[in-house]
Amino acid sequence: MPEAIRNIGVLTSGGDAPGMNACIRAVVRSASRLRIGVFGIERGFQGLIDRSIRPLGDADVWSIGGLGGSILASSRSDRFRTPEGRKEAAAFLRSREIDGLVAIGGDGTFTGARLLEDETGIRVMGCTGTIDNDLAGTESTIGFDTAVNTALDAIDRIHDTAAAMQRLFFVEVMGRHAGDIAIYSGVAGAADVVLYPEDRTHTLDTICEYVNREMSRGHRTILIVVAEGDELGGAEYMKNEVSRRTGVPAWATVLGHIQRGGKPTARDRIIATLSGEAAVEALAEGKSRMMVGVRGLSPVLVPFDEALLATHRVPEAMLRLVRRAAKGG
Ligand code: F6P
Repeated sequence: MPEAIRNIGVLTSGGDAPGMNACIRAVVRSASRLRIGVFGIERGFQGLIDRSIRPLGDADVWSIGGLGGSILASSRSDRFRTPEGRKEAAAFLRSREIDGLVAIGGDGTFTGARLLEDETGIRVMGCTGTIDNDLAGTESTIGFDTAVNTALDAIDRIHDTAAAMQRLFFVEVMGRHAGDIAIYSGVAGAADVVLYPEDRTHTLDTICEYVNREMSRGHRTILIVVAEGDELGGAEYMKNEVSRRTGVPAWATVLGHIQRGGKPTARDRIIATLSGEAAVEALAEGKSRMMVGVRGLSPVLVPFDEALLATHRVPEAMLRLVRRAAKGG
């Protein structure tokens, strides 16, 4: 029989993602069903160092499922990156009889969570809160679907003005190292070209050739989606360089943090709920050191080691689609 869990802590860490609140809600509700107390830890791991926590009950999370951001706030904690910081965090958790932790975040969060468990024995489960969708072992991360739909809405609007004015537009979407937001929003938004870090076929030359070819055929409206992490450079750089080389005037829009906020989509709320429930149930069953991923509508438990070591890959079918959908691909 696993040792009974008295209390758990829940925190959100790293870049916030829509659906984090739905996940917090699921953690609190599942824990209360299992008669486990819950403390909300403020500003991610930093809250453990600052001793900034508050009890969370069903009434506190009743209406938060549809809210963007995180009611607990989030941060990237430098102090927690040190062994001393993690020791302080563990001592504080023990002093409050908190036996387990649910950490909602991305790969940085899980790296910290794994170290905390290895060095101090505090049991941790991870839920995938990041818009980037850059984690292996899950079909999608909490926040990704909302970010894609936000980007798509902006792309559709830019399409309208680009078509009306017959302009060349570069639209930059987020994704530090991963092209998922660019690929999904670019395919759905019928972009002419999608530039993303996993693809090394495009160069400034191929883009300029494409623009010249389209212009010579009388296609004056071109929309190119650029992932923030693309090796060629961002939308602003591409606009300047392509304009300078081709003589075709261009416009750039950087969507930035609007992709992080807003109401989570139904899909993000659902996977957040599945993940939060599965994380608490796993802790109650004595499991830990794992991330909750999703396959369809089922949660899957993936050891942190696997999730952090494996490289996230965009599904092959999606890569084929983006190459075909994009005329310049
Ligand atoms: O990881 C999520 C993300 O939004 C990335 O897409 C982006 O590169 C980064 O966070 C931005 O971080 P910050 O909000 O700290 O500037």
